[in-house]
Amino acid sequence: MIAEVMVTIVVISGIAAVLSALLNLSDALVNNYGRVKVTINKKREIEVDGGATLLSTLASEKIFVPSACGGKGSCGLCKVRVLTDIGPVFPTEITYLNKEEAESGVRLSCQIKVKKDTNIEIPEELFNIGEFKARVISLCDVTYDIKELNLMLEKDIEFKAGQYVQLIVPPYDKIRESTMRAYSISSPPFQRKVIQLLVRLVPNGAATTYIHKHMKKDEQLTILGSFGEFYLRESSADIIFVAGGSGMAPIKSIVQEMLRTGIERETYFFFGARGVADLMYTELFRRVEADHEHFHYVPALSAPEEDSDWKGDTGLITDVLDSYLTRQGDREREAYLCGSPGMIEACVNSVLKKHGVQEDMIFFDKFG
Ligand SMILES: Cc1cc2nc3c(=O)[nH]c(=O)nc-3n(C[C@H](O)[C@H](O)[C@H](O)COP(=O)(O)OP(=O)(O)OC[C@H]3O[C@@H](n4cnc5c(N)ncnc54)[C@H](O)[C@@H]3O)c2cc1C
Ligand code: FES
Repeated sequence: MIAEVMVTIVVISGIAAVLSALLNLSDALVNNYGRVKVTINKKREIEVDGGATLLSTLASEKIFVPSACGGKGSCGLCKVRVLTDIGPVFPTEITYLNKEEAESGVRLSCQIKVKKDTNIEIPEELFNIGEFKARVISLCDVTYDIKELNLMLEKDIEFKAGQYVQLIVPPYDKIRESTMRAYSISSPPFQRKVIQLLVRLVPNGAATTYIHKHMKKDEQLTILGSFGEFYLRESSADIIFVAGGSGMAPIKSIVQEMLRTGIERETYFFFGARGVADLMYTELFRRVEADHEHFHYVPALSAPEEDSDWKGDTGLITDVLDSYLTRQGDREREAYLCGSPGMIEACVNSVLKKHGVQEDMIFFDKFG
């Protein structure tokens, strides 16, 4: 039954996406909207050619709205409040907007076009997001499907540990247009000229196939940043980090920043992996654990290789997390999770809430 519902949702979304692409094509061929004005936060006015998406219109003026999926309508991060009546919300937007957002004019800026003078509101901090030229200074395997990518920037970047950048991938092979995807910065913010990303290969993924199979040392790229709300909050509560795969990236940055600033809150880092082959930076986190009494590293393998001599925790990360929290008893906790949507939802709904972690003390970045 669930499978049938999922298939129906996928089919309907596919049809909506195809119809939307056809409508966009005919709109571009038939209509000429001339020059139009976009007024931003009632104080800045830009004049542009009408007809492009609001997302690309703003980007052409160097105002970068978060867009982890590169405008495909599949991340829901490009929300902007539109104060002018531009018609009803599109089917491609509905799943990403709650009732309150839809009623107050919030729209996905990659799905709507600027066809007439339009007033919009965006968070002030978006004016500070920059574009950076970057050079690939190293690209190496940290597991069989995760690469560590180090980029030298032409100028310093400011970010909070845990935030992400958007990487623009050039056209290659059958990918005719450049694509943009979000990658969390895994290096600490005091390192402003060279940033590190951890990128997991998604089979047939447009950006990750490029990064894993085509990217070369010394290649020039462009990144936008920095974005995101996934950063450490000030509090005295215990910290629970949970990550799977490349979800380790922002947590690695946060842990390094905690060491630099001397934050000594009781911290548990649960890292979920299938086998020993999926573990990375083990020495780094073991060293932090050895040097800092308050820091505990808990890698857990769900399917350890038969020939491995793994002596650590085994099982699904949800079960391992549950058993640690049960043993610790009642504590005030703040949780930071990063990785696949399924892992995050399972940890939040089946474990963290059960152990009384308040919803406003749970932060996450869902990859994918
Ligand atoms: C805030 C944020 C931060 C992120 N940080 C990182 C990071 O540090 N490291 C990292 O590796 N990724 C990260 N991601 C995911 C990343 O942005 C891309 O979605 C991912 O790399 C896939 O891009 P692609 O172009 O290769 O795949 P696409 O061409 O976009 O997708 C191809 C197919 O794979 C599916 N898919 C997309 N992403 C995933 C996934 N992660 N797992 C499984 N299937 C997927 C799609 O549904 C599609 O069917 C982050 C995402 C967000 C929203
Ligand atoms: S950019 Fe991803 S939904 Fe708009």
